[in-house]
Amino acid sequence: MKFEHVLVVGAGQMGGGIAQVIAASGRRVSLHDPYPGAVERGLEAMRKSLTKLGADVEETLARVERVDDLVEADLLIEAIVEDQSEKEALFRRADDLLPETAILASNTSSIPITSIAAVTRRPERVIGMHFFNPVPVLRLVEVIRAVQTSDDTAAAIVQLARDLGKEPAEVRDFPGFVSNRILMPFINEAAYALMEGVAEPEAIDTIAKLGFAHPMGPLALADLIGLDTCVAIMEVLHNGLGNPKYAPCPLLRQYVQAGRLGRKSGRGFYAY
Ligand code: CAA
Repeated sequence: MKFEHVLVVGAGQMGGGIAQVIAASGRRVSLHDPYPGAVERGLEAMRKSLTKLGADVEETLARVERVDDLVEADLLIEAIVEDQSEKEALFRRADDLLPETAILASNTSSIPITSIAAVTRRPERVIGMHFFNPVPVLRLVEVIRAVQTSDDTAAAIVQLARDLGKEPAEVRDFPGFVSNRILMPFINEAAYALMEGVAEPEAIDTIAKLGFAHPMGPLALADLIGLDTCVAIMEVLHNGLGNPKYAPCPLLRQYVQAGRLGRKSGRGFYAY
């Protein structure tokens, strides 16, 4: 499948980035987000990112159309809020509205694809397509097969990821998949080190940057991802795997309660 027309729902950091890489590959993108101003903000971020990348800004943006509702397309990529019932509601509507041959993909970082697939009449054509922030820069796409996903669907999405210039890694649907099962305990442990007074944030991040050659330390990365998202993912790991080692660090919870969500709120482990 070529996926010449892709519907992206959610125009935030992730959805906007996904729309951008799909448009940059020459495909037509319909971008939908019901929140006022979200598509405009997404398009502005795309413009900045395309400029940084030295891409043809106008030509790429001309392939992105703003739509006020779901439209027919060959592929849906959902990047809305990390809320299972909202995602399931969207997949039910998409199942009703999109052609029966269309594949329905979710960019979720932690919600079970198997549950999302189960609310549709085409569970074999539902899959996880998990991009990484910043989407235009990072090459990984974690492709998550639900229990019901067919081999043809998985092969088509793996090929699409390659056509977008990304590197797919196939995993099975298990809480946190592979990426967040590794990343979130790392971030959580860094938060414990800070809470227990082992070191200041700068020292913790310097250790990861210079000692492990990570581009960012875990606390700066948590601020980029959003501390509320980190807590939500830890809860999925904790509830889904039933092991107390995945319980969110109390300091992370406290920062979220205080509205210190990271870059998006102007303050997290660091001030922006
Ligand atoms: N669009 C286009 N280009 C961008 C960009 C964007 N949004 N953001 C950064 N860049 C470019 C910069 O212009 C720069 O390009 P040049 O080298 O050509 O100058 C390059 O990327 C590097 O950027 P910077 O020099 O500004 O800074 P940096 O070297 O520190 O890189 C970073 C920034 C790419 C964000 C890097 O720090 C990084 O990779 N950090 C780790 C990010 C990460 O781990 N993300 C995964 C989060 S987990 C997730 O997303 C999924 C989940 O489920 C939670």
